[in-house]
Formats: sequence, C-alpha cells, structure tokens
Amino acid sequence: MWKQLANQWALVTGASTGLGAEFARQLASRGMHFVLVARRRELMEALAAELLTQHGTRCIVIVSDLSEPDEPQRILNEIAAQGIVIELLVNNAGFGIVGEADATDVDRVLNMIRLNISATAELTHRLLPGMLERGHGAILNVSSLSAFQPVAYMGAYAASKAFVLHFSEALHCELKERGITVTAVCPGVTRTAFFDIAGAPGWLQKHAALDVDFVVKQSLKALARRRQCYVPGWRNFLLTLLVRFATRSRVVKESMRFFKPKRPPKSP
Ligand SMILES: NC(=O)c1ccc[n+]([C@@H]2O[C@H](COP(=O)([O-])OP(=O)(O)OC[C@H]3O[C@@H](n4cnc5c(N)ncnc54)[C@H](OP(=O)(O)O)[C@@H]3O)[C@@H](O)[C@H]2O)c1
Repeated sequence: MWKQLANQWALVTGASTGLGAEFARQLASRGMHFVLVARRRELMEALAAELLTQHGTRCIVIVSDLSEPDEPQRILNEIAAQGIVIELLVNNAGFGIVGEADATDVDRVLNMIRLNISATAELTHRLLPGMLERGHGAILNVSSLSAFQPVAYMGAYAASKAFVLHFSEALHCELKERGITVTAVCPGVTRTAFFDIAGAPGWLQKHAALDVDFVVKQSLKALARRRQCYVPGWRNFLLTLLVRFATRSRVVKESMRFFKPKRPPKSP
C-alpha cells in the first residue's frame, strides 16, 4: 500500500493537532502530500513548514469549520480547482461532549453530529466515485472505543462514533473487491486535548491513556493490512469483546460511573 500512496495526496481533517497532525507526520515520512483541514490556520501552517523541511512534503492548508453544512463541498471544490487527486482520505476531525443531557447545549450537540457524522459521510461519498473510477484509493475513518456501546453522559458522541464505525465497516465490505480500502480505527483514551474540549478536564491525569504516535502507527499498519476495523491497544480490544458478553442494560449502566457529574452535597 505505501508504494501506491507515495507521492500521492491525502486529505486529513482535524490536522491542526492531536491524532490528525500525527497522521500527517507519519504519512509524510512515507512520501505523501497533504490537504490539511481544520479551523486553526497557524497550527496547520507550522505543521506544513515542519513537513516541508523534514520530508519535502507539499501541503495545502484549508481553514474550515466542517460542522458548517456547505464546507465539505467547498473544500472539495478548492482541491479540484488545484488539480489535486485525493488518494487517501483521513476523516479524523471530531470532538466529544461530556455532561448530563439536559445541561448540554443543543447547538453544540448538533455541531458535533454535523462534524462527526455528516462531514465524514459527505467527504467519503463525494470522493468515492473518483477513487472507484481510478480503481484505487483508501479511506481511514477515526471512530472510537465508545462506538461499541452506549455511553451514559456521552450519549450523542458515542452514538456518532457508532455511525462512523458501522458506516465504515459496511463500506469496507462493499468496496474491498473494487480496489478501495476502508478502515475504521477505534482509539480508546489517547493523550490529546480531546477530554479537555469534551468537558472532562483532568481525565488524562486519572486514567490510563495511549500516546498519539503509538495509536497512529498501529492504525496505519491496520490500514496497510486492509483491516475492516482496528482497536489500538490490547486492553481496549478486550473491552470490545467484553461488552458482547454482558446484557445491553448492564453495559450502559456500567458506563455511568465514568462520566456521572459529581453533585454538590445537599445542604441540611
Ligand atoms: N483522544 C481520544 O481519547 C480519542 C478517543 C477516541 C476517538 N478519538 C477521536 O479522534 C479524533 C481526533 O481527536 P483528537 O483526540 O486528536 O482530539 P484533538 O486534539 O482535540 O483534535 C481534534 C481535531 O479536530 C479538529 N476539529 C474540531 N472541530 C472541528 C471543526 N468544527 N471543523 C474542522 N476541524 C475541527 C481540531 O482542529 P481545530 O480546533 O483547529 O478546528 C483538531 O485538529 C476525533 O474524531 C475524536 O473523536 C479521540
């Protein structure tokens, strides 16, 4: 696969930091060029400069809020106008929301759904016909360990990642005989800004977490092996098996202890 992808272009969403930036770093060392997409221009420009110096990588930076409905199409128009053909799509941009449903801002939930689900689905569907016409291409969709079960106090996020997992696995099966690889990657807790942004600050200090370089390295191996789904870390993988043996009510009940907000003690 890496021979096929060397000197080709990858579109990486959420490329300003965290897993997305690391995907770009590790793919750059394999000779790929990038369209980097996220909202923070400076971070992406710094990454582009780093990759150019280290690997001679060409990068196009597109600033975009992918939760805006017209943005996926605008990005693809810009890419087409520059004559770039995308050989690898990494749908990585995403965020989570932790909190009680009634205390959660509904507009933020809808933005998350548009980013995690709609943008992922739209970029995939719009890039697929070209890949099929050429007879090759690859898509790596970043789902989550939370995709395997409902998660109390993180319900909409976990459900959005279940969409990404099921969507990707179905496409994997549909497309594998037609030259296209689709791999869903389902990380567990990983050292990025994810939990701070989701509303669970300090989470990484209290829980075991994997490093981004490990998660990305293993995920790219899974892509090269044309895996349907990959869960980085054997403990995380075991968890995905465990939830299959427990009842659904038990599984979701167990999830309550992770994110249940602590209420102040009632005054006497
Ligand atoms: N870290 C974990 O424990 C973990 C576990 C499972 C799954 N994941 C998944 O991994 C993916 C990457 O997250 P991360 O852990 O690397 O977190 P992160 O460091 O917060 O990175 C998130 C990336 O998404 C981009 N992004 C957020 N909102 C966006 C928007 N509206 N439009 C465009 N880009 C947007 C951010 O860039 P800007 O802010 O510059 O836009 C950033 O580059 C996400 O899909 C997340 O759900 C993470």
